[in-house]
Amino acid sequence: GGGGAMAGQRVVITAGPTREPIDPVRYISNYSSGKMGYALAGAARDAGARVTLISGPVSLAVPAGVDVRSVQTAEEMLQASSEAVDEGADIFIATAAVADYRPESRAGQKMKKSQEELSLSLVRNPDTLATIAARSDAPFSVGFAAETNDVEHYATDKMKRKRLAMVVANDVSTPGLGFNSDQNAVTVFWPGGQRTIGPAPKTDIARELVELISERMADQS
Ligand code: PMT
Repeated sequence: GGGGAMAGQRVVITAGPTREPIDPVRYISNYSSGKMGYALAGAARDAGARVTLISGPVSLAVPAGVDVRSVQTAEEMLQASSEAVDEGADIFIATAAVADYRPESRAGQKMKKSQEELSLSLVRNPDTLATIAARSDAPFSVGFAAETNDVEHYATDKMKRKRLAMVVANDVSTPGLGFNSDQNAVTVFWPGGQRTIGPAPKTDIARELVELISERMADQS
């Protein structure tokens, strides 16, 4: 029920890092904490949406009323996201920091330190956001972009290449913002406009992003 900005909308959100196993005890990953994605899940729920959160390994509490599905690898993130969108989605928001590459093979046993040097062979991971946005039944798709320089150039390029309705660029070069912090500062781009939000707590940024997404969707229809 309720008359929130996303009342009745079905929202799928990816959050956190992925872990790409090297052997049974080691993996490749990154510093994403999941905070931005979890904040968005809470804000969308508060705005009346039905939220499914596809979460990499994080140490955050499950947000009340949100359907959380845990994954480890980029391949699992694609699989779980596709399944969630198959069930029906109006909006897809990709905040996850997905590992672009994974080890070509996963050693069955713990690797031993026998040589002075070791090379790992890596292969490209599938792109969840690009795959979802390319569907014929694609939801309103929102990407994030973590850039350290030429933020506008790279962000708008990403929007066009991945066919996104909106891209949220965060400057991850400023200490205390972006990865693994409670604050963020973002510039949102959509075809024909942009808006800067923050620096502010991720929960505040999430609330404003939910408003902005609803406005843009209303504008499109
Ligand atoms: O988790 P936190 O600690 O709160 O930090 C939040 C954040 C900084 C991780 C987040 O705000 C953010 O910027 N996430 C995107 C990180 C990133 O580097 O994205 P990218 O440039 O690799 O990818 C662009 C977009 O494609 C993203 O929406 C990403 O989720 C998506 N993608 C990328 C690769 C891939 N294989 N699958 C994807 O879905």
